[in-house]
Formats: sequence, structure tokens, C-alpha cells
Amino acid sequence: MIEEKLTNPIHLSEDMDDSLRPRLLTEFIGQAKVKENVRVFIEAAKIRKAPLDHVLLYGPPGLGKTTLVSIIANELGRAIKITSAPALEKAGDLVAILTSLDEGDVLFIDEIHRMRRVLEEVLYSAMEDFKVDVVIGEGTGARTIRLNLPKFTLAGATTRSGAISSPLRSRFGIIERLDFYDTPALQSIISRSARILNIGVDDGGSEEIARRSRGTPRIANRLLRRVSDFALVENHDGIDGKFAAYALGKLEVDKQGLDSLDRKFLNIIIDHYKGGPVGVSAIAAALNEETETIEDMCEPYLIQIGFVQRTPRGRMASRRAYEHLGLEYREQDPGLFG
Ligand SMILES: Nc1ncnc2c1ncn2[C@@H]1O[C@H](COP(=O)(O)OP(=O)(O)OP(=O)(O)O)[C@@H](O)[C@H]1O
Ligand SMILES: [Mg+2]
Repeated sequence: MIEEKLTNPIHLSEDMDDSLRPRLLTEFIGQAKVKENVRVFIEAAKIRKAPLDHVLLYGPPGLGKTTLVSIIANELGRAIKITSAPALEKAGDLVAILTSLDEGDVLFIDEIHRMRRVLEEVLYSAMEDFKVDVVIGEGTGARTIRLNLPKFTLAGATTRSGAISSPLRSRFGIIERLDFYDTPALQSIISRSARILNIGVDDGGSEEIARRSRGTPRIANRLLRRVSDFALVENHDGIDGKFAAYALGKLEVDKQGLDSLDRKFLNIIIDHYKGGPVGVSAIAAALNEETETIEDMCEPYLIQIGFVQRTPRGRMASRRAYEHLGLEYREQDPGLFG
């Protein structure tokens, strides 16, 4: 696979170590349903000797969208070009990339929900008819010419599928959602990474890290490295459950994997708003964070584990959240909030 990075993908810093990225579908752990579907679609495209249909992957950050797209290109034996919607300013930027593609190439556009409207319109005909209209010249001499594009595969990734316009969404033939990983899957990911990074971790150690990784491979890999830093500096041989728990405690990652931002998020709902409901933008303002950051990074997992409920009137903290924080639960008055 030839991988060409057209722009600096935004999230790369945390995953600097490309060595941890699986390259083959069989190395991609968990997400059984998605994996099986993708395997079939790749196989079918190969049998037909046709490019794979356009693919949209969505789900919270760090669950493997970028990884899966590069695996797809690799398994197809095609080149991949990588960009992200915020990096594309003018229609010309997009046209330049589109016209540089070869038949069957995969064009990966990350954060596709942030695509500007004019560019989105360029994509419509590119995706559907493999054509783009380009305006040449200026003023009265300007004319439009239609360029044919090679049949390519567009792969889009987004953390917020709801933010994608329906005309764009409807042009993807394959739409798959990545979910949070369960503990055994994360444990396999941690063991695999530990092997690659030459870190000694036993089953107890990998399980402890897995349980606190918020269902997210990126976090699992990060915690593995940080715990191994403690082991190295404190001259501790091999990471077991007890040592992992100790180091994760130092990192202020609690038993549910919540970090200090998550706990502040819950505390704001509980302390300032009597458990809610409260709008997410008010919570974000109190945390001094962007609403989008809170909605993408914090909330999905808290909702997943049932600590936060999304209601039409805002976010509410559940009884389990109170219990986790060691607070006494007060039944919310339905007359007041219902
Ligand atoms: N299924 C998996 N098996 C093994 N490792 C994985 C898996 N999914 C992700 N990873 C690891 O987690 C890291 C983060 O994954 P990736 O960058 O693909 O997430 P993403 O969904 O694209 O996140 P973002 O939305 O922030 O762009 C990768 O570097 C990879 O090492
Ligand atoms: Mg990504």
C-alpha cells in the first residue's frame, strides 16, 4: 500500500507510533460485525474487479476509523491518499486531489462533517458520476469544463454522523458504525501492543488497563505506555494487575476509566444543576471547554456506561453516577423537570 499524507492528520500525534496500527483486517481486533461486512465488500469488489463503493465510518474518537480505512486500502491493494475536511479550503484544493487519483485509489477524508458546502457540492458529482466541473478563466471569458475522474473510492470518517448532510450521506454505499470495545477486546489490543513495544504485561495487568480504557483502543495504548513509564522509572519488573492499578491511580484514571475531566463534567451537573437537566453548552462553558470537545470526547462514554442521560431538556446524571462519585442520590423532581 502506498500511503500519501496530503495534510497533517490532526489526531496523529497521539498515535505517533504507527507500529501499533494493524495493517490487515485479521489484525483488527473486535468490531466483529463491521469487520465481517467490510471483508465481504472488499472480496466482492475484488471479484468484480471494480472499485469498492464509497465508505463512511462513524463513531467516537480513537475507535479505529483511520486504522480501518488504511486497512481497507491495504486489503484492496490500492493506494490511499489522506486528507481532512478542515484542510480543504477552496474547491480547487479538492479538485486537485480528485484529479490526481488513479483508478481504484482510496481517498480518505477525515472529519468529513466539517466539509464546506461548496466543496461538498463538488463531491456529489465526483462520488456519483466520477466527474467534476471546473471553471476556467474569469469574468465574461469564464467557462465551465467537465473533467472525468478515475473511478475511486471515497472513505469518509466522522465522530458525528448527525452533522453530515443527507445528500452527502446518501452517496455512501457502505456506512458502518464503530462501537466502544469490550474489556476482552481491549485486553487483546493491549497484549498485542505490549508485544510490539516490548513491554512485559501479564493478564491481570492488561485486564486492569483494559477496564479503565473507556472502551477505546487509543486510550488503551496510551495508558499502557504511561503505566510502563512508571514500571521503568520505579524499576518494577513486569506489569501485573496490582502495579497497573497503582500506576493508573497516579494518573487519576479511576476504576471506570473516568479521568478528571469526566469527573468534573459529572460534578457540574450534580453540584451546579442538582443533577440536571442542563444543556451541554452550559456544562462546556463551566468546564472552559469547547462544546464539541465535550460532546465528542467526554459524553459518549458517560452515556454508554449509563452515568449520563440525554433528554430533550438537557443532560442528567444517573443514580449510578452519584454512587460512583460517592454522593447521595437525590431523586429528581419530575414536576420540575419532566
Ligand atoms: N481494532 C483495533 N485493533 C487494534 N488496534 C486498534 C484498533 N482500533 C484502533 N486501534 C489503535 O488505536 C489507535 C487509534 O485508532 P484510530 O486513529 O484509527 O482511531 P480513529 O477512530 O480514527 O480516531 P479519530 O476519530 O480521533 O480520528 C490506532 O493507532 C491503533 O493503534
Ligand atoms: Mg482518525
